[in-house]
Amino acid sequence: MEKLRLGVNIDHVATVRNARGGDYPDPIRAAKMAEDAGADGITAHLREDRRHITDRDIERLIEALSVPLNFEMAATDEMQAIALRHRPHAVCLVPEKREERTTEGGLDVAQDENRLAHFIAPLADAGCRVSIFIAADMRQVEAANRIGAQVIELHTGAYCDAHAEERFDERDQELERLREMSGFAHSLGLEVHAGHGLTFDTVVPVAAFPEVRELNIGHYLIGEAIFRGLGDSIAEMRRLMDAARA
Ligand code: PXP
Repeated sequence: MEKLRLGVNIDHVATVRNARGGDYPDPIRAAKMAEDAGADGITAHLREDRRHITDRDIERLIEALSVPLNFEMAATDEMQAIALRHRPHAVCLVPEKREERTTEGGLDVAQDENRLAHFIAPLADAGCRVSIFIAADMRQVEAANRIGAQVIELHTGAYCDAHAEERFDERDQELERLREMSGFAHSLGLEVHAGHGLTFDTVVPVAAFPEVRELNIGHYLIGEAIFRGLGDSIAEMRRLMDAARA
């Protein structure tokens, strides 16, 4: 099986920094530590309201990183201009507004196909690998394929929430949907990623899907860093992913 990449999302280091309004803790320092601990990429979401990552963080990440940057953003003209200026390795389109979401929380590509097809074309032309964050739903996978996305990232939030709330039948159904849609997307020629809400307890079954090539994980890793340190938190996630794959 091909190696599963780990993208570490550093947004919540910026959340803690912004709580005090100064420069500390620095998300770029966390990103460099994540690289050293085995992250294959760094993910950062420049939100329209700049509630965590800032424009300057993105500039500094582009300068500092040795691993690829996965730039998460809403499908707006402002964000498209920023992405075209920096040309990060990857762009992942995510919903920010309620009306852009499916019931499961991913981007409602099927509702907005025409606009999104035009939106991603210049990003792909600029050399960015374009990914769309969607629910594990066949309509959304097919729509992502039709608009010319190279990658889909499957939203694992419903699966993780069901696990955390001990709704185990639902959790198993969500996992089955993720498994089926990973296979389906792969059969269409899409590269498959997954993420949102993953923890040490929930990562293994998803990491074991052979079609999944990358997981993007943030909140839990940064939370666990409080207790065991960032390097150790990432190294443990890496170990669980590799074991699931073996
Ligand atoms: N993937 C995408 C597309 C996301 O938007 C997020 C959250 O920013 C993640 C992965 C990571 O989710 P979490 O922080 O819950 O691990």
